[in-house]
Amino acid sequence: MDHFLYKNGTLHAEDVPLTDIAAQVGTPFYVYSTATLTRHYHLFTEALSPLPHMVCFAIKSLSNVAVLKLLGDLGAGMDVVSGGEYRRAKAAGVPGDRIVFSGVGKTRDEMRLALTGGIRQFNVESEPELRALSEVATSLGLTAPITIRVNPDVDAKTHAKIATGKSENKFGIPIAKARNVYAEAASLPGIDVIGVDVHIGSQLTDLAPFEAAYNKVADLTRALRADGHNIRRLDLGGGLGIPYTRSNEAPPLPMDYGALIKRTVGDLGCEIEIEPGRLISGNAGLLVSSVIYVKNGEGRDFLILDAAMNDLVRPSMYDAHHDIVPVIEPAPATEPAAFDVVGPVCETGDTFAKARPLAPLSEGDLVAFRSAGAYGAVMASEYNTRPLVPEVLVKGDHFAVIRQRPTFDEILNRDTIPSWL
Ligand code: LLP
Repeated sequence: MDHFLYKNGTLHAEDVPLTDIAAQVGTPFYVYSTATLTRHYHLFTEALSPLPHMVCFAIKSLSNVAVLKLLGDLGAGMDVVSGGEYRRAKAAGVPGDRIVFSGVGKTRDEMRLALTGGIRQFNVESEPELRALSEVATSLGLTAPITIRVNPDVDAKTHAKIATGKSENKFGIPIAKARNVYAEAASLPGIDVIGVDVHIGSQLTDLAPFEAAYNKVADLTRALRADGHNIRRLDLGGGLGIPYTRSNEAPPLPMDYGALIKRTVGDLGCEIEIEPGRLISGNAGLLVSSVIYVKNGEGRDFLILDAAMNDLVRPSMYDAHHDIVPVIEPAPATEPAAFDVVGPVCETGDTFAKARPLAPLSEGDLVAFRSAGAYGAVMASEYNTRPLVPEVLVKGDHFAVIRQRPTFDEILNRDTIPSWL
């Protein structure tokens, strides 16, 4: 459920007509709903209660500092994968002991940043990383709390580019090797082994792969305890999928996911951590765009928008589907027509949808891409020197621009011409 509904014939974000935002901010823009973000965060905390737990928002999905502050103020932890994301979490006022550092290639500089700034734990993904962390922590006279990310060799049954839990993927340590690596970790100075971490992929629409992975984590936890490790925290990753269409898609609910966690690892007495991104942010955001032209081609009509693949790359990168809806509600009996919905970028890949049935639209009309809150703005680029799309946060009947559209001066001033030219 989200808070983007038609009221009096106009699509609203909570109580704000999108036409009002478009008039003030211009298009394209991303808009996020405070009520939806809040609701989705609480779905997870409710699903995991009464287990001791922390919901660490995967900020790679939506990293605007205002959104992080909103979630951080609710008590959320943050899952970061770079020094940049760590800085964002800190800038949002999230204390270090609520920040988890994930990622397959943490640099020594990033380790230093997190160790000195405060960290809940590092999720270590390889033996060389473990040794580097030990060196860095010892050189600072500090101790790094760690889990080891294990790769359970489970097929997440999601898009190949976002599946991470098979042995051929670059992530984590093969679960069969885990006991040896934990033994090494326990022997290293500056390392405090506190738990186990797993993340098998993103946009999972079936609970079975989670169940297989979490059962393996439960077995490993028992084995590690028998080996003498004080395993007290389990980070179970993110990945719960969302509905991208309004029709018949029904991915599992957070409540069922919570029940699965209780069933598989709930008896171990561990603190449970999860790292959801998409389920919190995905359906909390829209990308709003205007129609530049309607072009009648041979056998097909093109809707040319002012948003493009640089603003929302998911359709061209993963063949992802996003519902596209007109901001002004069509009259009830309107017959849809089929459009290829495209952007102005000079690539055929700059196509959002093919033969998509839409109510007829004309130049200047506004459309909204649904489910664009996750992996939308964060993956945007300035390809074709198109300014990064601005972001707006709505709360009730008011809104604020939480990232301005850069001016062309700002964009051009980032380039410098060397003295010899
Ligand atoms: N934890 C780790 C270690 C991750 O790698 C990810 C996502 C998450 C948590 C959050 O997963 P979520 O709950 O959002 O599914 N750009 C792609 C998705 C990439 C996901 C990368 N890792 C897309 O647009 O579909």
